[in-house]
Amino acid sequence: MSGPKKQESVPSHMTTGHRSKGPVPGLAVIVMAAGLGKRMQSKQAKVLQPIAGRAMVLYSVELGLRVASIRMVVVVGHQADRVGQVIKEATAGNNGHRPVSIVEQQELLGTGHAVLQTRPLFTGSGGVFPEHFLILNGDTPLLQEATIRQLLLVHQTEHAAVTILTAQLDDASGYGRVVREPSSGNRVLRIVEDGDADANEKLICEINVGTYVVDGSFLFSALDQLQPRNVQREYYLTDIVQAAVQQGRPVAAVLLDDPNEGLGVNTRRQLAEAELAVRREIRYRWMDAGVRMIDPPSTWIDAGVTIGKDTVLYPNVMLEGRTTIGEDCIVRSGTRITDCVVGNGVEILDHCVFRESHIEDGSTLGPFTHLRPHVTVRKGAKIGNFVEAKKTDLGEGSKANHLSYLGDAKIGKGVNIGAGTITCNYDGVRKAETVIGDSVFIGSDTQLIAPVTVGAGSVIAAGTTVTENVPDDSLVISRLQQVTRPGWAAKRRAMLESPQESRPKQSVKTGRNKVHRKKSR
Ligand code: UD1
Ligand code: CA
Repeated sequence: MSGPKKQESVPSHMTTGHRSKGPVPGLAVIVMAAGLGKRMQSKQAKVLQPIAGRAMVLYSVELGLRVASIRMVVVVGHQADRVGQVIKEATAGNNGHRPVSIVEQQELLGTGHAVLQTRPLFTGSGGVFPEHFLILNGDTPLLQEATIRQLLLVHQTEHAAVTILTAQLDDASGYGRVVREPSSGNRVLRIVEDGDADANEKLICEINVGTYVVDGSFLFSALDQLQPRNVQREYYLTDIVQAAVQQGRPVAAVLLDDPNEGLGVNTRRQLAEAELAVRREIRYRWMDAGVRMIDPPSTWIDAGVTIGKDTVLYPNVMLEGRTTIGEDCIVRSGTRITDCVVGNGVEILDHCVFRESHIEDGSTLGPFTHLRPHVTVRKGAKIGNFVEAKKTDLGEGSKANHLSYLGDAKIGKGVNIGAGTITCNYDGVRKAETVIGDSVFIGSDTQLIAPVTVGAGSVIAAGTTVTENVPDDSLVISRLQQVTRPGWAAKRRAMLESPQESRPKQSVKTGRNKVHRKKSR
């Protein structure tokens, strides 16, 4: 269908500089997030499904917070406590924004019913009643702030009772369709839901995005009149459009230039589509900020991540959660970093997994390093292949280059941890700490039986099991004395190679008198 091309859009000179930033006076925002999300086939409420590591509903909430001046309300219902908690956590201490109010919709009787639940918040004593309401679905994560501002502007210039956002889709199935009247300049008459649409209406390709601006004096009186006369027996918010038309009040519509922006996420397929689009935007943003990505499509960056200039990300890198990466870092392929702070000039080689750890400037990690929560790698330190660390502080310039387990350890500056070193931090019941002073040398294959302290400057000989505290500047060695038997191996070979019949009955003699002991130290 060839629909109207933004026929109610505003000339660009009116949009530029017109409230392109900050809260819009007289505006309250309502986000609907109570729905079950049946089509998602998930145990988790739909609005909590993550997109680029952030719950879907937070995209609507954060967008709303950028424009709301009076109040920001989220309607919760299905898994109300969890949804409310996620929103509270994400918006706590939200730099100067309005606090978010949470309202519960006890029975899920439709989007109109959801919005109606917010009325007590606005009609209570003391508050200023909003001039306009912006109402957002909790499942349209690709919506842009500029679009919202344009919608608000059109609403005001048209003196509309309701202004809706629409999009032209090739496949409009599942969405509410915008029914227009061709005989009267294509004005909007009503929105018909997919399930209620007749065969002709189903052919309409202009859809309702689920983003509305409603006149303050109109909203609740219109909601009061809603009737659940439809297939789903729900109170549809979308019916306020027809109500406005019937009352002879103007209805405006803004058509999206890019229909993808109006994606409503109901299914797993749509969730994957949204993820793709959000992640691409995130990558563009960081590339514009000076981050180099060798293969952008395979580079996964969550919404809450920040990255410094001239940092290079190789293919198949995943940066998750609230990770911060400094400038001039290199992150090689196959590495996943979650909720970490990484300083400047850090080199991270291939196939590392880091969580909730702090990596200071100039350090080198990987390949194949595993940092579990609460590891601090101090300036210029090195952690190499097949090293696992947990709750460990590795001091400035210290090195653990190969095959080690460092758990519950406090390691000083300039320490060398030899290959195969293990902090034995768990006795089956309790965890205990290992403390290693500055400039200690730990030889290869050392076990440190915690709790234990190794004093600064000490040397632990390879293969030692350290069970007692070590004073500063000591040597510790614990080994069985070596046994060497010259010629033993050659004799054994000769025996094994000799013909069956000539073999002696007994195996190689291991007479004590033939043992040559190394001089003990
Ligand atoms: C809705 C619109 C449809 C539009 C589509 C755009 C209605 C009746 N239909 O349909 O015209 O094309 O969005 O994506 O509004 N919710 C509640 N309480 C409820 C029901 C839903 O809070 O009782 C919330 C949901 O959590 C969701 C939003 O409202 O965030 C939309 O609900 P959903 O069921 O996804 O509506 P659609 O069928 O997609
Ligand atoms: Ca939807």
